[in-house]
Amino acid sequence: MIELQSLTFRYAGSDRDALSDLTLTIPDGAFVGVIGPAGAGKTTFAHCLSGIVPHAVRGDFYGAVRVDGMDTADTRLTDLSRLVGTVFQDVESQIISSVVEDELLYGLENFGVPREEIEERLAFALEEVGIAPLRHRSIASLSGGQRQKVAIASLVALRPRILVLDEPTGELDPSSSRQIFSLLRRLNREYGMTVVVVEQKIMLLCEFAERLLVLSEGRVARDGSVREVLGDIEGLEAIGVNCPRSARFSALLGEKTGREIPVCVNAEEAVEAARRVIG
Ligand SMILES: Nc1ncnc2c1ncn2[C@@H]1O[C@H](COP(=O)(O)OP(=O)(O)O)[C@@H](O)[C@H]1O
Ligand SMILES: [Mg+2]
Repeated sequence: MIELQSLTFRYAGSDRDALSDLTLTIPDGAFVGVIGPAGAGKTTFAHCLSGIVPHAVRGDFYGAVRVDGMDTADTRLTDLSRLVGTVFQDVESQIISSVVEDELLYGLENFGVPREEIEERLAFALEEVGIAPLRHRSIASLSGGQRQKVAIASLVALRPRILVLDEPTGELDPSSSRQIFSLLRRLNREYGMTVVVVEQKIMLLCEFAERLLVLSEGRVARDGSVREVLGDIEGLEAIGVNCPRSARFSALLGEKTGREIPVCVNAEEAVEAARRVIG
């Protein structure tokens, strides 16, 4: 379980809080999507879960983040990283090896994974992320999207109980993005891993996440099930969140017909709602 208690963080030299008084709990096995406009504090939030804030970033840190009861401020980053695996928004800064296989091996060896388990974990991660053919390629020869997949595979290989991903599909095309989200769902359901994912592609989040956390100016603007959060289109758009078309459609349909139309979180539901109205 992750517990945030009045978490506040201000980067050194900044005159405003990047995160302001966040109190929330993420239970084990949750699949949480984090959205919000640029500068809302999403990356800072992700860094607080992984312990990078406050350990590797200078600034004023107040309140507490506890992961499995451990206070992140009092726990070494190397210990935290066994529990909370993370993929940075800036993937480039995370990759340290020059060959794909080495990048995965590095983490596995560092974590002291037994020799006989290494190959199986490596092959599983490459296969699941869809980059088995890239195993012996040099990182320098890969596209941005392929590098993103390498970072995700490295994380998957380590099998941390909590996965924190910051815009993991930013460089990926729609089909690869879906593939990554399907993988996250499987890790969540089959292995019980907790998934916290910052994502701009809101349609994708709405399909896969169970809970949406909306950040705005360093605060929690909304926190609830996808359906609850999407129920307030106007409020979301006012804070700069682009809502899925299906949700905008159901809101409009309700407005035009004067009927009670439940919020539609995907195209199928929108079609169904339209059918019912037509008759
Ligand atoms: N290293 C930094 N130093 C100072 N301010 C920062 C730094 N990183 C981010 N910020 C500021 O903190 C706020 C939140 O940033 P960030 O967490 O990156 O937001 P998001 O990921 O939602 O775009 C922004 O106002 C941003 O300018
Ligand atoms: Mg960010």
